[in-house]
Amino acid sequence: MIQFDKIYNEDCLEGMKRIGDCTIDCVVTSPPYYALRDYGVDGQIGLETSPEEYIDRLTDVFAEVLRVMKPEGTCWVVIGDSYAGSNKGSANYPENAKLWLQGTNKGTLSKRTSFKMKTTAKDRDLIGIPWMLAFALRRIGFYLRQDIIWHKPNPMPESVTNRCTRSHEYIFLLTKSARYYFNKEALREPANTGLRKHEYNHRKVKFIVPGHRQEQFRGGNVSDGFRNKRDVWSVCVKPGYEGHHATFPVDIPYQCILLGCPVGGVVLDPFIGSGTTAVVAHRTHCHYIGFELNREYFEIAQKRISEELAQPTFLFK
Ligand SMILES: C[S@@+](CC[C@H](N)C(=O)[O-])C[C@H]1O[C@@H](n2cnc3c(N)ncnc32)[C@H](O)[C@@H]1O
Repeated sequence: MIQFDKIYNEDCLEGMKRIGDCTIDCVVTSPPYYALRDYGVDGQIGLETSPEEYIDRLTDVFAEVLRVMKPEGTCWVVIGDSYAGSNKGSANYPENAKLWLQGTNKGTLSKRTSFKMKTTAKDRDLIGIPWMLAFALRRIGFYLRQDIIWHKPNPMPESVTNRCTRSHEYIFLLTKSARYYFNKEALREPANTGLRKHEYNHRKVKFIVPGHRQEQFRGGNVSDGFRNKRDVWSVCVKPGYEGHHATFPVDIPYQCILLGCPVGGVVLDPFIGSGTTAVVAHRTHCHYIGFELNREYFEIAQKRISEELAQPTFLFK
């Protein structure tokens, strides 16, 4: 059986088989994107020949996720789109190469020569990967509850001249049941007619003190100057931790966990990369389980998590 508060250097589909049914409170993950980068390890997801094969593999992974989730569990999937393209010349997949803000372009497919995509989409068509995945997951039993837009105020610059620069990705909220854990009080925002900034900041600071997150904003309603969190989240992209170049910023799992996981719950990330989800689970007083296939990234995540655990106290931001 799998232990809590541990990450494993193995294929997530294999690893999750050792998790019992209905164990996990919250899943926060960002799968490898399609045709974007080579993580340099056999068995990796993301380099399938066709978008359909990629979706099939992810669907197998998420079928296992569904099994291990508690009935009241939530699943947050961060996913970006890819463009169709043929493998011509040295600058392969120029449309896809800049989705993430990265310290370097290590691993991007522009350095790869052997990848050929088979798709009915024309060169330069946007494939629609996020929605292909969302519908596939709905078909296997997930409730597709929401498409949240992750708006990036500082997107990677793109040299395109015939479309706008991409500055968003999707975060899908999927659940196992129609009724599920959702702490809407955790992240209420100031309403337009609400508190002055210093009053809001005062409450926000109280809210982030460890151990007290459940008590904040309790019993509030719009008339107290706050409103429900909206479905467009503006979060700046940050450089990855050490050698990992496809990380999400801590604010993404932070918000998902506060909304979708009770204190003391277990958070799973099947594609843990540099360990961001584990670090945030710890900061929000939850347990974690993670899988990472690439040995180098697994070690980066281990180091990052041990540094986190060595911190005596924590105040977010
Ligand atoms: C987009 S990254 C995740 C980044 C992570 N959210 C972070 O903040 O560091 C996806 C990760 O999935 C890993 N991966 C790819 N295929 C995998 C598989 N079959 N099982 C487990 N991990 C896999 C890749 O090596 C990569 O580190």
